[in-house]
Amino acid sequence: MTYFQYICHVAEIGKDILKAKDYLEKGQLVAIPTETVYGLAANALDAIAAAKIFEAKERPTFDPLIVHTHSLQEVYHFATVIHPSLLTLAETYWPGPLTLLLPKKAIIPDLVTSGLDRVAVRIPDHPLTLQLLAQLAFPLAAPSANPFGYISPTTAEHVYKQLGYKIPYILDGGPCAVGLESTIVGEENGEIIIYRLGGLSIDDIEAVVGKVTVQLNQSSNPKAPGQLKSHYAPKKPVYIGDVNELLQEHQNKRVGVLVFGETDVSKNNTLIKNLSPSKNYREAAANLFSFLRELDESDVDMIIGEFLPETNLGLAINDRLKRAAAI
Ligand code: TXA
Ligand code: MG
Repeated sequence: MTYFQYICHVAEIGKDILKAKDYLEKGQLVAIPTETVYGLAANALDAIAAAKIFEAKERPTFDPLIVHTHSLQEVYHFATVIHPSLLTLAETYWPGPLTLLLPKKAIIPDLVTSGLDRVAVRIPDHPLTLQLLAQLAFPLAAPSANPFGYISPTTAEHVYKQLGYKIPYILDGGPCAVGLESTIVGEENGEIIIYRLGGLSIDDIEAVVGKVTVQLNQSSNPKAPGQLKSHYAPKKPVYIGDVNELLQEHQNKRVGVLVFGETDVSKNNTLIKNLSPSKNYREAAANLFSFLRELDESDVDMIIGEFLPETNLGLAINDRLKRAAAI
């Protein structure tokens, strides 16, 4: 810790797993890298430590946290059973951008699940965080490391800018490779249900367990607050639709434009960001949150974007665009 950090209480950014471990063992918060987005982590078995997450994020306590661990064996310490189809998904896609809702054991504090009887569990695919988890005697509760409702962070710097003054340490694992949060999956009455679209596509899930139901309710008291109508939202107004028509409508404004693939958009007074000029969905997913953030932090008055084709990761990206625009 430098003198400046000591005086100003700002986070240190580094790659020191032992330092991260030490803070977490003392019940403090550490931001951790994952392949999806950065998480704001605390000891998942310690309600007081977990409460600090809600405080730092200004997150309502009806919004439960995902529990991160490093091996399937560990999951049986906090879940009573794993439905066979969910087990198959876990064996196929963990470590990876998949979160399973599983019946919880009492060892997981009610605060972590917001009183629900299922706990969300995932094994993230990031070498630093997997090493950290393997060295800890407890799993880590971690939501995305952003103030509640804002765009999720995909670099250590994103975390630093928004929560750096509230936490002691940010474990820097570079930019997140996937860039979208995990896909949340559970089982109800034998049916496999997707509650949040994310970094693992529906096609990938159905390839392993057959037809699934997608249940993305938009409500103010959702089963998964990633389902809230406004979420992942920049501070600037966001409009999604036909980019050229939207540009016509807002002629005299300075506009940030988010496009995908080839584009004929060209207008003075615009800042154009192309999610993937070659229409690669993975590239688009990895760029989405950092481009939204860049536009939000730039001098534009508003952000205009277009939906991607409703296939592959395009579905999850469109879900985030809708929530960013609250439509
Ligand atoms: O990729 C991710 O999932 C990232 C990284 C850090 O792992 N985490 C993340 O967490 O996106 P968060 O808190 O931003 O979103 C987690 C979602 C929330 O919408 C929450 O409501 C839902 O998971 N969730 C967590 N526990 C749940 C539970 N027991 N039942 C239903 N939904 C749950
Ligand atoms: Mg989040």
